[in-house]
Amino acid sequence: WEQRRPGVWRYRELLPAVSGVKPVSIGEGATPLVELENIGRMLGFRRLYAKNEGQNPTGSFKDRGMTVAVTLAKAAGARALVVASTGNTAASVSAYGARAGLRRIVVVPRGKTALGKLAQSVLYGADIVEIEGSFDDALRAVMEAVGRDARLYPLNSFNPWRLEGQKTLAYEVVEALGGEPPDWVVVPVGNAGNISAIWKGFRELHRHGLIDRLPRMAGVQAEGAAPLARAWRKGLNEPLFVDKPETRATAIRIGHPVNWPKAMRAVRESNGVFTMVSDREILRAQAMLARLEGVAVEPASAASLAGLIKLVEEGVISSDETVVIVLTGHGLKDPQAMLEAGARRYVAAGVEDAVKLVTSLAGG
Ligand code: F0G
Repeated sequence: WEQRRPGVWRYRELLPAVSGVKPVSIGEGATPLVELENIGRMLGFRRLYAKNEGQNPTGSFKDRGMTVAVTLAKAAGARALVVASTGNTAASVSAYGARAGLRRIVVVPRGKTALGKLAQSVLYGADIVEIEGSFDDALRAVMEAVGRDARLYPLNSFNPWRLEGQKTLAYEVVEALGGEPPDWVVVPVGNAGNISAIWKGFRELHRHGLIDRLPRMAGVQAEGAAPLARAWRKGLNEPLFVDKPETRATAIRIGHPVNWPKAMRAVRESNGVFTMVSDREILRAQAMLARLEGVAVEPASAASLAGLIKLVEEGVISSDETVVIVLTGHGLKDPQAMLEAGARRYVAAGVEDAVKLVTSLAGG
């Protein structure tokens, strides 16, 4: 048995075959499962964990999918990769496509893409199209362009190879928990690909006899962009699409999630739940993760903690269960949101003034 480097490709037997091509890899996956000791204690949990996907090469879970999808795109002879994105997919495809030597075109909502993500796509050297419109408009534009020009290779999450890579999160969680699945996995939901991919990962482990039970999946949306959570609350089998989605968590500012059938199935099959949280609850959860655990995430990722708190309050999740919340993207993605987190900042006129301020602050 060969020694394997940790990460997505460690599970290559369970990934699409890429014989003959070298994976386009920058060291994705193998992210830490952080025990949330302080928040866990506050909420009464003994086993509360966060899968910190912000520690991927471009700072989000998208890298898991992109390493697989870009490898296959390269093998297929693609020249120009294209995605619609709220920012993270754009950053990821920009990096992986660069490594593969391919042209990259990203379409992102103008004025609604977090600064860090936009800056990544700039640095990695993608062509950036900023659209006056939402993510859903960007995706429509990409689909239309792909239909007109066969040179374009689309890499949004309807691309099954993306989900194949993203499912490896489930494998890592089970390994980190000593071969056991958690009772619940809580995931923020935007275009609804990730929750579907993670569920697929657990189902496969179960089918191969590697785990003997399955976790329940909780999908969390922002109130202003909650087509699935609103439908779930009404007991509907189809989303209540939102034409003008709005939330501070720009990563999940999506009204027409394309992967909704898979996500609905994941939640229904797992006996799980969809829920939604307000922007206030999201920003409060973001500050909690940073100030109680030292873990910085972007607002969309904090939706999973906000959702967990809500589900505990509602009695859906009990504190004697083992819970993994998925933290999908790094805090640095959205520096503006970080700066809004109620700062304690002072200005000193010079050295003497700074000394006075620092000593006066020592007492709290
Ligand atoms: N969290 C973050 C940080 C994201 O960037 C996204 C999606 C999600 C959660 C939701 O995942 O779409 O699979 O349900 N971002 C996409 C993008 C839409 O373009 O970067 P999902």
